[in-house]
Amino acid sequence: MNIRKAELKDANLIADLEAKCLKNPWPLSQIEYEISSNPCAITIIAEKDGELLGYLDYLITFDSSSICRIAVYHEHRNKGIASSLLEEMDKNLKENSVSWSTLEVRTSNGNAINLYKKRGYELITTKKAYYDDGEDALYMVRCY
Ligand SMILES: CC(C)(COP(=O)(O)OP(=O)(O)OC[C@H]1O[C@@H](n2cnc3c(N)ncnc32)[C@H](O)[C@@H]1OP(=O)(O)O)[C@@H](O)C(=O)NCCC(=O)NCCS
Repeated sequence: MNIRKAELKDANLIADLEAKCLKNPWPLSQIEYEISSNPCAITIIAEKDGELLGYLDYLITFDSSSICRIAVYHEHRNKGIASSLLEEMDKNLKENSVSWSTLEVRTSNGNAINLYKKRGYELITTKKAYYDDGEDALYMVRCY
């Protein structure tokens, strides 16, 4: 498996991954913006033999960071792909002297919550009705 920065040519594949894995998937235009124009965004992908397996999009603003999107195709889950993407992010955050990383996750998303806890994220608070459909979000933080 190879992890690398996403390029514009990857945007269509990432849009497919978003559509299959995430509620309220980002449109292609948002993915293209993250890859090519958003000065704070870093988008990385995990691939094998040219096949997209998963992706991670996060922001760095001064000494803080936030995870925007993470997704792995269903058939490739529980093989450590998301963990590898987060490890790659960790390396970059340390190189950039980032102090903490934050995220929001649906209270119903047990898989993702387990993943984040294992990676050192702690629950700070619950954001009530954070999502469009009224679901609450857990707000989690990891200090570096
Ligand atoms: C959350 C997600 C990215 C995890 O990807 P993954 O590649 O399967 O994660 P990993 O294989 O690195 O798993 C790491 C840990 O996550 C937890 N986990 C992942 N899948 C799990 C499952 N099906 N059941 C229970 N725990 C699970 C476990 O703690 C696991 O550690 P372990 O297997 O070493 O015990 C993936 O399930 C996904 O794409 N979900 C849909 C999109 C999504 O919800 N994104 C998060 C939005 S906040």
